[in-house]
Amino acid sequence: MDSLQELVQEAQHAIEAAQSLESLEQVRVVYLGKKSQFTDLMKTLGQLDPAERPQAGARINTAREQVAVLLEERRLYLDQLERQQKLASEVVDVTLPGRREAPGTLHPVRRVLERIENMFRQAGFDVADGPEVEDDFHNFEALNIPAHHPARAMHDTFYFDAHTLLRTHTSPVQIRTMEQGKPPFRIICPGRVYRCDSDMTHSPMFHQVEGLLVDEDVSFADLKGVIADFLARYFEQEVAVRFRPSYFPFTEPSAEIDVACVHCQGHGCRVCKQTGWLEIGGCGMVHPRVLQHGRVDPERYSGFAFGMGVERLAMLSYSVQDLRLFFENDIRFLRQFA
Ligand code: DAH
Repeated sequence: MDSLQELVQEAQHAIEAAQSLESLEQVRVVYLGKKSQFTDLMKTLGQLDPAERPQAGARINTAREQVAVLLEERRLYLDQLERQQKLASEVVDVTLPGRREAPGTLHPVRRVLERIENMFRQAGFDVADGPEVEDDFHNFEALNIPAHHPARAMHDTFYFDAHTLLRTHTSPVQIRTMEQGKPPFRIICPGRVYRCDSDMTHSPMFHQVEGLLVDEDVSFADLKGVIADFLARYFEQEVAVRFRPSYFPFTEPSAEIDVACVHCQGHGCRVCKQTGWLEIGGCGMVHPRVLQHGRVDPERYSGFAFGMGVERLAMLSYSVQDLRLFFENDIRFLRQFA
């Protein structure tokens, strides 16, 4: 019993010497644990005179209590210390440059498509849609390209089976549009098309914009006006447009659309291969048989159609020399259109 005060002092030294919560816990076990000297002292109470026991027990408890208080004080102190050290070591340098967000941008082909859509919408055209997995009837037959027609050979078609294919052009949407409604029609159809072909100027997947206008008294002059207006707005300059006689099974007469080279104004350069002209697409007056396939009366209605290559237009407006750049998705190329 006389050593109680010494024991408390000894514990106090040990507590003060503890430099971490971990070592403090070891001190706690030594002084307040089941095998501590306080426990031993409690066990000796039985040997005392019963009259002295309560007082002795109270003294032991008080001493224990003192040690417990010292332990708790030290624990709070060490706890705070460790927290501060942690905060100090995890300090954030707010002066470091941040990591920049790189927001995505529209793909250049998508941008051109949306521009074209907006221009034709303003001219009163609706935007139509059709399936990329097409049937032989809509892609060929209804467009006046029967089996064994030589024009089929020009299309390098991807077939699924004898009747199902990836559309080789957006022209089948002409038929689908006419099937689904009544004239007048005034639509464009932008979309993906597929051909088994790949080099600097051909990609197995590319985009076209199809146009179809069917009404009473539609003439080739209307076609020329719509196309010339569109090209002037697209290239943001007055451009000379040339309609070169051509052949497509679904139009009669048919023409190839050329625009005076927007790079050399028609003088001749690398882009136009010294010809002064750029091919933009095909067009013509809708063939009566095509109108019939669309359940439109060719005696009452006439119309024009056109089809343009979107990548071609994009290459010209952005001076891109190789078509494949549009499909490689090289982030350094795409970022230039941000
Ligand atoms: N479908 C044709 C092609 O892919 C392009 C075309 C030519 C569309 C004349 C037309 C047209 O609507 O009248 O080569």
